[in-house]
Amino acid sequence: MHFLINTSIIKKSRTAAFILLLIVPVTQLSAEQEHHDHSMMHQQHHQENSVDLRTPLNLPPEMAQHQLSNMRGHLEAVQKIVALLAESKFDDASGVAWQQLGSRPGMLKMCNRIDNEDFKQRGLSFHKSGDALAEALKTKDTNQSLEALNATLQHCVSCHASYKQ
Ligand code: HEC
Repeated sequence: MHFLINTSIIKKSRTAAFILLLIVPVTQLSAEQEHHDHSMMHQQHHQENSVDLRTPLNLPPEMAQHQLSNMRGHLEAVQKIVALLAESKFDDASGVAWQQLGSRPGMLKMCNRIDNEDFKQRGLSFHKSGDALAEALKTKDTNQSLEALNATLQHCVSCHASYKQ
């Protein structure tokens, strides 16, 4: 009886050792592959970051500062809108959207001064999305408001992907 148990244990540990022999090189290989893939990704990422293919706007210095300051204002507006939405203060959020993102005449001045037709059009349709956001917030419907906010944010993302100062 003892003898039988021992041989079965030996058999089992032999099988286990055999399986280990098979597994170890495979996992080593996949770890190496992973490392390789990762460094390839890193390289690609690095290349994307070092070659900026976006169209430059070549703004004169004082206009450049003004444009960036407008941009920081836009980001702040989005932050305020999200905070007000979280408190269901739809009317206040709608006011911020109209004042800071919408197509008020003062707001469109900067876009109109930029000497690039496509950029100008993107700017104008972004501000129209700000008007639509102000309207959506007036409905006091959270989903509709978030959809409109998302549409506005898509304008931010796609313009940033195409243009730099
Ligand atoms: C029509 C184009 C356009 C739209 C729309 C747009 N931006 Fe920009 N934004 C730019 C450009 C161009 C820059 C400069 C980027 C660069 O030089 O790398 C910029 C820069 C910024 C910066 C950096 C500011 C700084 O001080 O460096 C922030 C923040 C920003 N945008 C936020 C936003 C937000 C938020 C939105 C949407 C609510 C938005 N932008 C919509 C074109 C746009």
